[in-house]
Amino acid sequence: MKNNDIYILGIESSCDETSAAVSKNTRILSNIIAGQKIHEAYGGVVPELASRAHQANIIPVVTQALKEAGIEKNGIDAVAVTCGPGLIGSLMVGVSFAKSLAAALSVPLIEVNHMQAHVLANFALQSEETKPPQFPFLCLTVSGGHTQIVQVNAPDNMQILGQTLDDAAGEAFDKIAKILNLPYPGGPLVDKYAVQGNAYRFQFPESNIPGLDFSYSGLKTAVLYFLKKQLAQDADFIQKNLYDICAAVQKTIVQTLLKKLKKAAEQTGIRQIAIAGGVSANSGLRSELKKLAELSGWTVSIPPLSLCTDNAGMICIAAYFKFLQNEFSSLDLAPQARLSLQ
Ligand code: KG4
Ligand code: ZN
Repeated sequence: MKNNDIYILGIESSCDETSAAVSKNTRILSNIIAGQKIHEAYGGVVPELASRAHQANIIPVVTQALKEAGIEKNGIDAVAVTCGPGLIGSLMVGVSFAKSLAAALSVPLIEVNHMQAHVLANFALQSEETKPPQFPFLCLTVSGGHTQIVQVNAPDNMQILGQTLDDAAGEAFDKIAKILNLPYPGGPLVDKYAVQGNAYRFQFPESNIPGLDFSYSGLKTAVLYFLKKQLAQDADFIQKNLYDICAAVQKTIVQTLLKKLKKAAEQTGIRQIAIAGGVSANSGLRSELKKLAELSGWTVSIPPLSLCTDNAGMICIAAYFKFLQNEFSSLDLAPQARLSLQ
């Protein structure tokens, strides 16, 4: 017998992760992610290869998500899918699949904005003790393509207070990792090595952008010129100093992020803070944010690692809020490479 519980199958294919998840209300029952190793060799995501890999992965990933959740296809109340922003060919695979599945099952289709979903991942039910953030709250959304401070007034009312003027924080991690000869995506590796390094041996400049905006392209250039100079004297400089370089880079990126977040909290008077996006998995950011929150009297929400980087669980949570408002999409839905949060 059907009760009021809402079961959603979510699909995410905006970049290089094919993911499917099943949720019951705000509890994520399964969250399957197929990464795409093929891009490693190219030092970045190759859009055409990503689309092809999504096509190969999508059916097994959805099948596995249903299986792990212990639910049949006809137990699903809605199919949700990322409609943007992202790589158009990759989005197309997820959106086409979701439309066909929703039509075949005669259930509503729900389109989800990927950046909203990152923010709303903070509402995934973890345990009975953990409380979701209270509105309004500030969310620092840091991913491979975006760096934003967002004022979240409601699930469907988000306002960008500041954002990057050039590279995103994740992009800075990845580009600097590439300079250090690390494979793509370099962010998690910089984090891993930074933990073992001395963050104070090398000093990199922090950008000085007014207001709540960010800039990271200068840091990448500073690291590049610093290494050029050092490598001219010692060809093994990177190998010998990798941990300390990573620690200094990570410290610089994290400090800039938190400085602006603090400024936003002071300007708005909002003390409910959340983080989201791939870079929110960074151990330095997580620990420094906890310290700052304690000092500033903030209540913070830090999503579990599995909900920070791209995943379909967050698509389910964003779709749940839309389901409650009967906000459904037509089968004419088309993906959008560029899609604003506001
Ligand atoms: O949110 P996400 O999975 O995809 C986008 O929507 O962009 O974010 C991916 C980004 C990549 O730049 C990756 O290097 C970075 O998040 N990232 C990290 C860590 N884990 C993922 N950066 C620093 N430290 C990490 N632990
Ligand atoms: Zn993302």
